[in-house]
Amino acid sequence: MNRVFIKTYGCQMNERDSEAVAAMLRARGYRMVQDESACDVMLLNTCSVRDMAEQKAIGKAVHVIQKKKRNPRFVLGILGCMAQNRGAELLDALPDVDLIVGTQKFHQVPDYLDNLRAAQEAGAPIASTIIDIAEEADSQNTIREHVLEDRQVTAFVSIQQGCNMDCAFCIVPKTRGDERSRPMDEIVRECEELAARGVREITLLGQIVTSYGRRDYTHTGGVTPFVQLLERVNAIPGLQRIRFTSPHPRGFKEDLIAAYGRLEKLCEYVHLPLQSGSDRILRAMNRPYTRERYRQIVDDLRRVRPDMYFSTDIIVGFPGETEEEFQQTRELFEACNYDMAYVFKYSIRSGTPAAGMADQTPDEVKEERNQVLLRILEANSNRRNATLLGTTQEVLVEGPDRKGLGYMGRTRGNRIVHFAATERLIGELVPVRIDRVSTAVLYGELALTGVNS
Ligand code: 5AD
Repeated sequence: MNRVFIKTYGCQMNERDSEAVAAMLRARGYRMVQDESACDVMLLNTCSVRDMAEQKAIGKAVHVIQKKKRNPRFVLGILGCMAQNRGAELLDALPDVDLIVGTQKFHQVPDYLDNLRAAQEAGAPIASTIIDIAEEADSQNTIREHVLEDRQVTAFVSIQQGCNMDCAFCIVPKTRGDERSRPMDEIVRECEELAARGVREITLLGQIVTSYGRRDYTHTGGVTPFVQLLERVNAIPGLQRIRFTSPHPRGFKEDLIAAYGRLEKLCEYVHLPLQSGSDRILRAMNRPYTRERYRQIVDDLRRVRPDMYFSTDIIVGFPGETEEEFQQTRELFEACNYDMAYVFKYSIRSGTPAAGMADQTPDEVKEERNQVLLRILEANSNRRNATLLGTTQEVLVEGPDRKGLGYMGRTRGNRIVHFAATERLIGELVPVRIDRVSTAVLYGELALTGVNS
């Protein structure tokens, strides 16, 4: 009765939350399984950012509930953003769910499963669904335990939860609550422990990481708390690379730009959500920057790191987006020359300001605009990868690739590279000569001198 399978939808923060839940469950004697057909408890850690993500999880839950009909002792839980967003209302569609746990209550999951199990063992039928979507002070400090695979090289560290920006399209302030940061000392300690356990690359996570600690720490000499944190993580011995996601363009002041020039572990890759290239749409979205300011940030970063890699998020078809406004997005999108981008069709999120706006964009128009940007992205990515042909890149070896044919790792610019290697190189930074490229990945050969691979 103690085999748990967790399925995660959505962003890296959700992945990290699931990992922390798994670590807490393990400590409580539960067994985490990878095979969903062999579990007694299934937890769906959900995403609400677009309607499609919610529909996927609901579809899965409907399907899994069939299993419950055959085996009444089977436990199904819905965790995270959709649990927070919809709460008890989920029971209308899914009356047989046992557990609904919001984003500030992940750490309660072990207790709730224990309770369900005790009730079952006493022969009592499960009386009703356990629902807990309350807010909890300091819940951001509960996401700290890791489950590291053997020889795990990369890890996520949650530094902050929630967001107060109130972008007009976005459900996150509702699902994740107010911006709350973890104490810097605790984050640094967690990173040190990970480094001591063999982790070489850390990605700092939050909904708006550039605002990290803004209410808790002072600026010292024009340096924001976020950059202070980067400095401290940069100083951890054994750690080789630092990334973070997601920032807000407004957080790219001089101190963060300069950090790319002086913190050697900070990778020259940045995810910088643009959302729209039209000033009118940005205002309607409640995004406090202009296209010109955004372009300035990109130029500043390229000035400090000419080899910078950029990725972004774009929403096409925000309510009222005209063809001309979309063309402004297209133009800026081309000009920024992104290496990677996530293009989303605007999805109505009920309760957000944009949901009530007139002039919703028809689906066909969203689809068309989506395709236009994806084609540009493909061309950009091919062009960038072509410039890498014949170069030698520093690659952090992560492990065997999925097909088990060779090994995989990433460049500092976050490009995936496949190459032949040996197990003892896992966790090492190695030079790889790139001899073939596709749109998404690079292929190469170790360029080791004096080292037997
Ligand atoms: N519709 C479409 N995309 C959205 N995003 C956030 N809210 C919506 C929405 N309502 C996108 C944004 C954000 C990313 C995580 O998801 O681009 O940066």
